[in-house]
Amino acid sequence: MIVIKRGADLEAMRESGGVAARVRDAVAERIAPGVTTGELGDYAAEVMRAHGAESAFLGYRGYPGQICVSVNEEVVHGIPGRRRIRMGDIVSLDVGVRLGGFVGDTATTVMVGVSDPDVMRLVDVTRRALEAGIGAARARGRLSDVSHAVERTAVDAGLSVVREFVGHGIGRSMHEDPQIPNFGPPGRGPRLKPGMTLALEPMVNMGGAEVEIQPDGWTVVTRDGRPSAHFEHTVAVCDGDAEILTQ
Ligand code: MF3
Ligand code: CO
Ligand code: CO
Repeated sequence: MIVIKRGADLEAMRESGGVAARVRDAVAERIAPGVTTGELGDYAAEVMRAHGAESAFLGYRGYPGQICVSVNEEVVHGIPGRRRIRMGDIVSLDVGVRLGGFVGDTATTVMVGVSDPDVMRLVDVTRRALEAGIGAARARGRLSDVSHAVERTAVDAGLSVVREFVGHGIGRSMHEDPQIPNFGPPGRGPRLKPGMTLALEPMVNMGGAEVEIQPDGWTVVTRDGRPSAHFEHTVAVCDGDAEILTQ
């Protein structure tokens, strides 16, 4: 069942989405060579607390972190810890907060003194893949139009889409129906309706699409060790363009 949000519920989604975005941007500002991912996680917890929000990730299926910080070949679900950021890295931050009973979920990939044009392009294409997905999230369209738009953007650029992890409906829970793959033919799945709230989140690899999970049970890495980027927004389907709740 896909829950339609209106009125006070949609307003509460704007609030939780807004805080998720502010935490994301505040933590992104702290990213620099020498900083550990654990320090970024600690800072995220502080900023969440200052906004009266709590992490939607901590304890989720036993996840031990406040946010996810995934560096270079790490795709998603990197646990904040001792890894130290270096010049030339790309750092994906994924932030989920719960506020007023609703969840906001957003991710960005930050370049740290990157000079490799292929890495810059990976990050740029992944951002554009998310934008294309949001552009396809229109009332009366179908869910897989979003998937298809994301895939086209990545594949046309010669990059690979991760298939094991997907976007999702979002609301009172972080992960609600439907699942939203980042690939697939257009014109399939449920018809989109105003008030549906979705988390769209392409994960794009420079090399092959294959991923594996590290022995920590969480960190997803590319099998070939080449870099991966991740962007995510929580959006509300509207009449006309979708509203980005995590801008
Ligand atoms: N925020 C991730 C997503 O975008 C999920 C993180 S799972 C967790 O859907 F366990 F790390 F929280
Ligand atoms: Co997320
Ligand atoms: Co998500």
